[in-house]
Amino acid sequence: MSLHVLGISSSPRARSNSDALLGEALRGAETGGARTEHVRLSDLAIAPCRACEACAKTGECVIRDDFQPLLAKLLQADRLVFATPVHFMGVASQGKVFIDRCQSLWSRKYRMKRPLFAEDRDRRALVIAVGGSKVERMFDGIRLTMRYWFDTLEMGYFANLFVQCVDAAGTVRDDITAMGEACRLGAALADPDALMPAAPTDIVLTGHDPGAASTHS
Ligand SMILES: Cc1cc2nc3c(=O)[nH]c(=O)nc-3n(C[C@H](O)[C@H](O)[C@H](O)COP(=O)(O)O)c2cc1C
Repeated sequence: MSLHVLGISSSPRARSNSDALLGEALRGAETGGARTEHVRLSDLAIAPCRACEACAKTGECVIRDDFQPLLAKLLQADRLVFATPVHFMGVASQGKVFIDRCQSLWSRKYRMKRPLFAEDRDRRALVIAVGGSKVERMFDGIRLTMRYWFDTLEMGYFANLFVQCVDAAGTVRDDITAMGEACRLGAALADPDALMPAAPTDIVLTGHDPGAASTHS
């Protein structure tokens, strides 16, 4: 049976750079026969976690909104591609709101000691992030959040594709290297025979947006 690859895009803007790379990664996954789905968080209504602690007892979130259907897709998926712009050195708030709502899963796993899945599953995730600057450690916040989130989701951290110095909307589409890497990593992610690396493969590229580095450094 073909793998199901879910793409989740966090950017709030039209002609998003990170969303364009996500589209390429999903295209790459499809070349190997995977079924893909591309979800943009900006199209959904997901409220922030209220830290009400209700999930500590039930493992379920009491806020009913677009979170539950997306969580169901995420739990069903074999692979995840999560794409975000760098916003103040971290995941964009649209993405962070969704991640924080996964506290219900964290409660299920770590407080209630209930496994997420009845059987062993090979679940893997690829992270795509784009930032306007080229400052040191600009992807560190995203790496940490992703590692902690993937532990909760029982997903292996397969790879990062980070692109710096890309700022204006849509400019990454002209970057053949970045678009090519996204496609290649998407195909590798969806290859059922690919070995899971001990540490995530880390690809950091520098874009060609002439105004970018000066505005965000
Ligand atoms: C609210 C906000 C915060 C940002 N913070 C950073 C930052 O901390 N570091 C950085 O390199 N770029 C930052 N940027 C620039 C974006 O990362 C950059 O424009 C990127 O290309 C956006 O990707 P997108 O088109 O997928 O949204 C910020 C942009 C916005 C709107």
